Amino acid sequence: MHSLPCGTAYSRAPAKSLKASHGKLPAPRLFSPANPRGKLTHEMETTLLLLKPDALHRGFAGRILSRFEDKGLQIVGLRMLQMDAELAAQHYADHVDKPFYKGLVAFMTSSPIVAAALQGPDAVEIVRKIMGATFGPDAESGSIRGDFSCTKTYNLVHGSDSPESAERELALFFPDGNLNWEPTQGRWTRE
Ligand code: RTP
Ligand code: MG
Repeated sequence: MHSLPCGTAYSRAPAKSLKASHGKLPAPRLFSPANPRGKLTHEMETTLLLLKPDALHRGFAGRILSRFEDKGLQIVGLRMLQMDAELAAQHYADHVDKPFYKGLVAFMTSSPIVAAALQGPDAVEIVRKIMGATFGPDAESGSIRGDFSCTKTYNLVHGSDSPESAERELALFFPDGNLNWEPTQGRWTRE
């Protein structure tokens, strides 16, 4: 464990112990204080988060949004709306043949939701991690679904599952685009 400037730290397990536990060594990854997860690049991304009707009925909108702000993601778009059948059909077009589609659309159009555009390095992946696995009973403690949902039907949040989905979904909920603004704390969360 090495101490790094600005209070961050990372660890690299010795090759021997990795070999013992996994049978073979992982592909070499580049580690550095600016790149502690070993990824070659961190893309600045904007993704769509929806607070589903159950999140609003249960009074969790503020608490849920706070988790993403706490992580360092920046709100660049925010709207409260009630989805109509047309928007729901566009948003869930990939699921149209699934058995849960009809119930999902009925639920999502049943009362208001909040749509947020969140921006940050690798925002798509980070938002999905904070949300947790799809169904509350399976979701990890500490994630939103893990902490607030114990049903398979009501899981509080939606997050785009890829940068391509994010682009398509953001255009549906924020057709005028998002605000491009520089937070004063950006130096500590975006670089
Ligand atoms: P989301 O789209 O809401 O962020 O969730 P996800 O990617 O984890 O899950 P996805 O497979 O895209 O499913 C979209 C939403 O449909 C409902 N669902 N129900 N009963 C079922 O088997 C089932 N499977 C999916 C969930 O509300 C899920 O979030
Ligand atoms: Mg999905």
